[in-house]
Amino acid sequence: MPEDVLVVHGGTPLHGQIRVRGAKNLVSKAMVAALLGDEPSRLYDVPRIRDVEVVRGLLGLHGVKVTDGVEDGELVLDPANVERASTDEINVHAGSSRIPILFCGPLLHRLGHAFIPDLGGCHIGPRPIDFHIQALREFGAVVDKTPEGMHLTAPAGLHGTKFELPYPSVGATEQVLLTAVLANGVTELRNAAVEPEIIDLICVLQKMGAIITVHTDRVIEIEGVPRLGGYTHRPIPDRIEAASWAAAALATRGEIEVLGAQQVDMMTFLNVFRSIGGEYKVTDTLPPRAGSPGTEGGIRFWHPGGELRAVALETDVHPGFMTDWQQPLVVALTQARGLSIVHETVYEQRLGYTEALNKMGATIQVYRDCLGGTPCRFGRRNFKHSAVIAGPSKLHAADLVIPDLRAGFSHLIAALAAEGTSRVYGVDLINRGYEDFESKLSALGAHVERP
Ligand code: EPU
Repeated sequence: MPEDVLVVHGGTPLHGQIRVRGAKNLVSKAMVAALLGDEPSRLYDVPRIRDVEVVRGLLGLHGVKVTDGVEDGELVLDPANVERASTDEINVHAGSSRIPILFCGPLLHRLGHAFIPDLGGCHIGPRPIDFHIQALREFGAVVDKTPEGMHLTAPAGLHGTKFELPYPSVGATEQVLLTAVLANGVTELRNAAVEPEIIDLICVLQKMGAIITVHTDRVIEIEGVPRLGGYTHRPIPDRIEAASWAAAALATRGEIEVLGAQQVDMMTFLNVFRSIGGEYKVTDTLPPRAGSPGTEGGIRFWHPGGELRAVALETDVHPGFMTDWQQPLVVALTQARGLSIVHETVYEQRLGYTEALNKMGATIQVYRDCLGGTPCRFGRRNFKHSAVIAGPSKLHAADLVIPDLRAGFSHLIAALAAEGTSRVYGVDLINRGYEDFESKLSALGAHVERP
């Protein structure tokens, strides 16, 4: 059993206010983008999470000076002295995150060579990087996979290309963006992902001097430029973290105000939340005015009492229901009357965590069939990627081992909603994507302790 364990005395509704900062899945990429510039960049609202530390470490190894700015959560990234790092030093970060794959293009542009360690990230499917490699080869990169990691060179430089993704992958779209901005000529990317974090990354790159057009039908065109400068950027808030706390409010029959949460990027989640029977209120941020100091906006989520309703939902790329919202919300669905259906279409193995919920009293059956309205890539490939949740079920305490980040948070929510004392092992993994989650839990009145 992992030694990092959180003891959770469940059964108490969570009540209170917490704040989310910049989105993990934007901040880490914006940090990599700083490597492309020849001037310092300044990033605000950076959460203290493990993924940020990994990127900071890798940037540091490549000569990017990363310092804390004056404001809490402000980072200054100075790429003036970019240099090669040794493979041994880089390999210290092997297995710790998936972000290192995005260093390919920027390092090739800056140094003509890149070494990428083995990737980490959550075990929610095989998570291949074939699209990344195909795209990099189209740009002119030579990719050499070795047992110690991946070496890349660009003997004739990197040039613009036309590329169509077989699936709108977030990471592969970012790979193309970060490589195309300084490549020679124009790049056209078809079937690109257009998640809000990607649009925000495009904003960062545009601030640096890039020329990027997002056309209709998932087509992105990038006109390569000879140089990029720095940026100053306040990232979009973390809509995955916000939804996770919303799910915690619903599952524990509580009320949580998530300051910083932004409606526009959560519309699909909010619709499902309301269909289940949860309630929310959006408040806008008001600037200071004469006689009033101004207020920070956010979204207040609560359980209005009574019974929740079952729903059928399907995860999808943006603007669909995010795969990362799925696990936390399923805990709330165990409390809804009737049969809920969840069809996971982004990752083939993202329902394994439901076993732990069943151990706690939930009734969740997983299926290989596509139980949603649309058949997906996994339907004929033997993956258990659909779930039927019968509720409401009374959850009871259990000993749980956290398998991955989002499933980990769902285990935590289940332990908070269950009667009795649970022990949640491997809880440090949650620090990869949730800043100060233990302090936030305490602020919300949860009874949790480290033994
Ligand atoms: N895929 C391939 N080949 C590739 C790349 C992706 O087959 O070369 C497949 C994947 O196996 C998966 C699908 O395409 O089935 C989508 O993967 P995608 O590339 O979009 O995911 P990612 O970039 O690795 C990011 C987030 C994930 C989030 C997904 C989907 C980061 C660091 N991670 O992953 O977030 O679930 O997009 O929105 O941005 C998390 O935060 O916990 C997390 C897992």
